[in-house]
Amino acid sequence: MSALTTRKLLLAHRPSGEVKDSDFELVSSPLGEPGDGEILVENLYLSLDPTNRIWMTDAPQYMPPVKIGEVMRGIGVGVVVASKCEGFAVGDAVAGMIGWQEHACGRPELLGVQRVERIPGVPLTAYFGVLGVTGGMTAYFGLLDVGKPKAGETVVVSAAAGSVGSLVGQIAKIHGCRVIGVAGGPEKCAYVTDELGFDACVDYKKGGLDEAIRAACPEGIDVYFDNVGGAVLDAVLANLSLRARIVICGLISSYNQDSVPGPKNFEQVLMRRARVEGFIILDYGARFAEAGAKLAEWWQVGKLRYRETVLDGGLEMAPEALRRLLRGEKKGKLSLRLSARAE
Ligand SMILES: NC(=O)c1ccc[n+]([C@@H]2O[C@H](COP(=O)([O-])OP(=O)(O)OC[C@H]3O[C@@H](n4cnc5c(N)ncnc54)[C@H](OP(=O)(O)O)[C@@H]3O)[C@@H](O)[C@H]2O)c1
Repeated sequence: MSALTTRKLLLAHRPSGEVKDSDFELVSSPLGEPGDGEILVENLYLSLDPTNRIWMTDAPQYMPPVKIGEVMRGIGVGVVVASKCEGFAVGDAVAGMIGWQEHACGRPELLGVQRVERIPGVPLTAYFGVLGVTGGMTAYFGLLDVGKPKAGETVVVSAAAGSVGSLVGQIAKIHGCRVIGVAGGPEKCAYVTDELGFDACVDYKKGGLDEAIRAACPEGIDVYFDNVGGAVLDAVLANLSLRARIVICGLISSYNQDSVPGPKNFEQVLMRRARVEGFIILDYGARFAEAGAKLAEWWQVGKLRYRETVLDGGLEMAPEALRRLLRGEKKGKLSLRLSARAE
């Protein structure tokens, strides 16, 4: 095994604007062998997440920024190919912070990976997507714990055709809410209403955003699940109900910008006695099993619909995949297949 090599993408520069291929360095190194307490994981699928772009900056954030010269941080799902660690056998599936690399070797807790209890018929990508940290779990805890929607209330969610947003809206429907999505373009809006079952969807690229949100939410907005910030957040702030809850899950409209402009309509938080709360999924680790079981139940009985785009092209495709994610050039959850062994 030690004669074999593996490849990794190191962060070479902090990007300005859209990431460039030259912000990364592709290097090969000998494939290590696990020591006592360690596992060797082959990365099968890399999850592309907007937060990859945050981790590349050195702005204050919820995890330490990736250092220049370090393997780019990323979530993946893989298979154990060698193990000297109790509780991990060759062939086990694992998910977590495998990184932008073809293999990872180390103690599972230091790598940040966990063994996946596979459910028959469930594809591996679901364990970071619809049932996993970057998709379903974020939607579940962000909406239910922070947004606290009640039956009959109006819930608005942005990036509604995406990984998190598509699930937020469906979970809100399960809880008896009226749900309005915000997405870019007629095709994505049709998907949100016709396939996901939202009550309406506003196309933020069409113009007249404030009027369109007002028309879709004549009684005001009780819960806003914000994935984007920017102009959509401002249009929502202008249309809040009394005691509205605003879940700040993401601000993707500003991730390629060096500074983030504040909301123009912030005074409406005061006028409508609203609550604005930031949310990070990693704070909910102790309750992942609860969300995983509930999401799997809803998914298996057909209450959650989910789309994904899986790209091929190997590790060198990762920067391009991230560019496409931030431009919205994909359907549903985006991932990159890294191995011919991937199902
Ligand atoms: N807080 C947490 O713990 C946590 C965890 C996971 C994700 N998140 C956040 O959740 C958000 C969604 O993540 P995701 O993985 O589900 O991605 P996603 O929605 O699958 O993909 C990103 C989407 O963002 C939309 N977008 C990009 N630029 C935009 C802009 N300027 N204005 C409006 N929409 C824009 C695009 O949708 P359209 O094609 O419709 O334009 C794109 O498809 C991100 O902000 C992410 O950082 C937070």
